[in-house]
Amino acid sequence: MTDPLDHDTSAPAPPAKPAVDLGRRRFFRTFASEVVQAAATVAGAAQALQQASAEAASSLLDPESTVRGAAVSVEPKADLVSSGPAGFRTPFREDGGTIFLIDQRRLPDDLVEYPCKSAGEVGFAIREMIVRGAPAIGQVAALGLALSAEHMRDSRPYARKATIHGAANALINARPTAVNLRWAVERVMARYVEVGELSEDGDAIADAMRAEADTIIFEATTDHGRMATFGNAILPDPAERPVRILTHCNTGPLACGQYGTALGIVQAAHHAGRDVHVWVDETRPYLQGARLTAWELAQAGVPHTLLPDVAAGHLMASGEVDVVLVGADRVAANGDTANKVGTYPLAVLAARHGIPFYVCAPTSTVDLGSADGSAIPIEERKADEVLEFRGVRIAPPGTAVRNPAFDVTPAELITGIVTEEGVVKAPFETGLREASEQAAARWASTPAFRAVRAPAAETEPTAANG
Ligand code: MRU
Repeated sequence: MTDPLDHDTSAPAPPAKPAVDLGRRRFFRTFASEVVQAAATVAGAAQALQQASAEAASSLLDPESTVRGAAVSVEPKADLVSSGPAGFRTPFREDGGTIFLIDQRRLPDDLVEYPCKSAGEVGFAIREMIVRGAPAIGQVAALGLALSAEHMRDSRPYARKATIHGAANALINARPTAVNLRWAVERVMARYVEVGELSEDGDAIADAMRAEADTIIFEATTDHGRMATFGNAILPDPAERPVRILTHCNTGPLACGQYGTALGIVQAAHHAGRDVHVWVDETRPYLQGARLTAWELAQAGVPHTLLPDVAAGHLMASGEVDVVLVGADRVAANGDTANKVGTYPLAVLAARHGIPFYVCAPTSTVDLGSADGSAIPIEERKADEVLEFRGVRIAPPGTAVRNPAFDVTPAELITGIVTEEGVVKAPFETGLREASEQAAARWASTPAFRAVRAPAAETEPTAANG
């Protein structure tokens, strides 16, 4: 593929489920071997993915059983079903009116699911980082909001309106920096408004909101596959040694719903047969790199080495880094990019050492309404994340803490922004606008995604979840 843009309410926590062996190796190997083929053939094929995801989830989570009434099935459509990617949408699945999230707080030690039955519970899970990563929280929030509408099919219009608006606000405010969250909630809410906020037809409202949530997930799956293809093309190709990629935080399937952003590119390159080695920043204080990225790469068989964040400068100065790939939580109109705290110093170091620094982000992460980085709200998280590690205090009691979860990398330090429409280069404002318009036009001319759900009576919880 060529580059078309070549310029240059707090909810109580449901009880934790016991740890189960989910066949993690098989799961990720399956995923990893499919990502390449997916990157090549992804467009228009996500209906097959829906079925494959539900079946894979059922068989992995309940290996003793065959697939029993997967919550999502697909209406066959000859032109879309045959050749697409298969794989397991890793951080979440929906079954019988419950959203099951992989509890990312417990990785890498336990691979367990956390059930959510309403938007309020999803909001809690997002705030507590049971699910995290900008694209994933947008998708899960959309699904959570649709679930609340589902539970209110028979409610009176004013009660429904109050509940749905309250849920939407709670979701949007759960994490302020990642714009995908607000973007996804607003898309689902627009469908509610379209049907009529005070309409008596609760079925039409629930169906429309769910259809939009499904569409958001469908589009993200496709777009992330496209992004992996463009990203593969910008990786350096050193002779007779691996390309050494430094990355920060976690940008793989756990953070994105499928494929990944920066890590999707890495995995696509690896499974295309390219020789890659990944330097994984541990990502203080929450350790998404150490806990999640190292785990995902190990499951996918991608060679990698874990680094203390503070070692990145030494490796760059020693000539051991070829390229830096990071994700984004919000890209402002001028290209300034908010991502996990620690990204900005990496960009400064990369510039100092002449190393290409790429941001990998779908257009759903681009916020043309934020003129530059100063308009992006930066989430400050609780002090315990810095003072403690898994309940063990590591600083004197009472120590004052600042815990900004993100920082902003100025556009001038960014070599390119890899989107699902191509690699955008400076001046970013024009390229980001074109990429966003191009993505919208592509989706406007793509046949609508239609998921057909199995009747509730046919859907039983799996052993792991029940
Ligand atoms: O606080 P987190 O773990 O949600 O932060 C995630 C990141 O910063 C990722 O880099 C980002 O969401 C972009 S790609 C998934």
